[in-house]
Amino acid sequence: MSQGWDSSIKDELQMVEQEIHRSIGSKQPILTEICDYVISSGGKRMRPGVTILSYLASGGKEVGEVVKIAAAFEMIHSATLIHDDINDRSEMRRSHLSAYKKFGLQQALVSGDFLFVKAFAIGGFFNEEIVNLVAEACTAIAESEIVQFEKEGEVAPLDVYLGIVEGKTAKPIMAGARIGAYLANADPDRIHAMGEYGLNIGMAFQIVDDILDIVGTESSLGKPRMVDFFEGKATLPMIYAMEDPQVVPRLSQLFHKKVKGEKDVEEAWAIIARTDAVERSKLKANEYAEKALAALNGLPDSEHRLGLQRLATKVVDRNY
Ligand code: IPE
Ligand code: IPE
Ligand code: MG
Ligand code: MG
Repeated sequence: MSQGWDSSIKDELQMVEQEIHRSIGSKQPILTEICDYVISSGGKRMRPGVTILSYLASGGKEVGEVVKIAAAFEMIHSATLIHDDINDRSEMRRSHLSAYKKFGLQQALVSGDFLFVKAFAIGGFFNEEIVNLVAEACTAIAESEIVQFEKEGEVAPLDVYLGIVEGKTAKPIMAGARIGAYLANADPDRIHAMGEYGLNIGMAFQIVDDILDIVGTESSLGKPRMVDFFEGKATLPMIYAMEDPQVVPRLSQLFHKKVKGEKDVEEAWAIIARTDAVERSKLKANEYAEKALAALNGLPDSEHRLGLQRLATKVVDRNY
């Protein structure tokens, strides 16, 4: 999804890669191997990108500092993906076999923990406020994963769904954006505004991910599609589709099947596609992207501000 949103921070993102590789060394080579496998498989580097752009757009000049914490955010993200693929039984990630498929469940689980801990060790270079923000973000992920798990098999109300999205995806990006501005010594209003940017871009991003789970292709996503439906997770398109009385009986029947076959999933896909659910979900994602853009008002013009703007546009303009 690059097309320029990160073009002003290529060197900094390269430094992030080096920082991550420095951090994942272990006397147990398998831990380093698994972490390296996941990190080197690809990924958009959106979280470190947002943190660095927020720092630079807010006037930060010492990139060495922000690179460290940006690396920590990417490590936390990658750790959640290792664990998420175990939870979702998802076999592909970043166009490669998911870590638990390649290395086995126990090894993948432990390497996810290892990556979390190594990210926190980076946090230790910073002050208590930053460590707390990182810890809050990780807590939000864990708590909303629990809610998501509890709601599996149900079509939860919209506010519950949005709460899950906020916790698992938007708050961590918000924390990165806030920390970027904080490290740049921005004033409290700017730190708040950058947090709003991160929060809203995160909401838009996860909603689009949920749309792509339905209408995307495995080759462009680098991960399987219809995983959410298969696992009984009712995301926004499903919530909206269930507002159409004509499709409710059959769609609900398919969704509530304990064991779903490929035919069930494809039938559900065709039913959702007949409704306006995907279109409405895109509008919702666009609303959040607009809020993210609005949060940048008042930020001085710079190539980094442009990068943040481009990212907000890109997030809702991925190939549906
Ligand atoms: C995947 O995140 C998990 C979600 C929050 C949807 P990304 O789509 O940013 O994953 P990578 O880092 O680019 O692989
Ligand atoms: C994962 O959400 C978000 C996390 C914070 C782990 P998804 O389950 O939708 O992510 P993908 O689709 O597997 O990347
Ligand atoms: Mg998943
Ligand atoms: Mg998904």
